[in-house]
Amino acid sequence: MPPRAGKPVIVLDGPAGAGKSSVGREVARRLGLPFLDTGAIYRAITLFMLRDEIAPHDVGRLTERLRSFHLSFSGGRVTVCGEDVTNAIRAPEIDREVSLYSAVPELRSSILDIQRQGVSEGLVAEGRDMGTVVFPDADLKIFLTASPEARARRRYDERLDRGETPDYEEILEMVNRRDAIDSKRDIAPLKAACDAICLDTTGMSFEDVVAVILGHAARFA
Ligand code: DC
Repeated sequence: MPPRAGKPVIVLDGPAGAGKSSVGREVARRLGLPFLDTGAIYRAITLFMLRDEIAPHDVGRLTERLRSFHLSFSGGRVTVCGEDVTNAIRAPEIDREVSLYSAVPELRSSILDIQRQGVSEGLVAEGRDMGTVVFPDADLKIFLTASPEARARRRYDERLDRGETPDYEEILEMVNRRDAIDSKRDIAPLKAACDAICLDTTGMSFEDVVAVILGHAARFA
């Protein structure tokens, strides 16, 4: 597909803590494009399934519950059925459980349309399967990685900034566990699209990562 001038679809995939959200948000801001954090959708669904005590393998109840699940993004806030869940979806129990829910094929297919809304206006989207499944025709595909230790350190610092008292070893274990589940699942596993540009951000500054991606996106200006 030829690049859509001024309205490109730019996707960022990669493992937990690779910096996709912060980098993606900044790239979107600098290019004047909307930003889509698809991990937030999986997190919000996980929050509601845990509240309703619906297990990931209970596919019948899970799909039934999803029919009345209305999610919206506005000004960096995530709202479900009128409730602002922006902070609640970042809780440690959501970190622990989200990979189990996001491995359910029926759940993944039910949110494809939500993710593709607004694509004709261009966007920056981040997740695990943006370049492989959701936006296979994206104009620019970036696969961000970093060592598990660097990614755990970023999550640790984020939590410190939020006033929490995180445990680095626990976070590192969680990062490795989620990588394993996300990469080995049968449906839409975490992997780079064959036409993605891979960028290892270990040791790179935030600004450098943004600059590299903006450099690749310059052809859409
Ligand atoms: O990026 P994140 O940590 O907020 O993502 C939360 C979980 O959601 C992650 O463990 C994998 C899953 N996820 C996914 O399977 N596909 C996506 N496109 C985005 C996230």
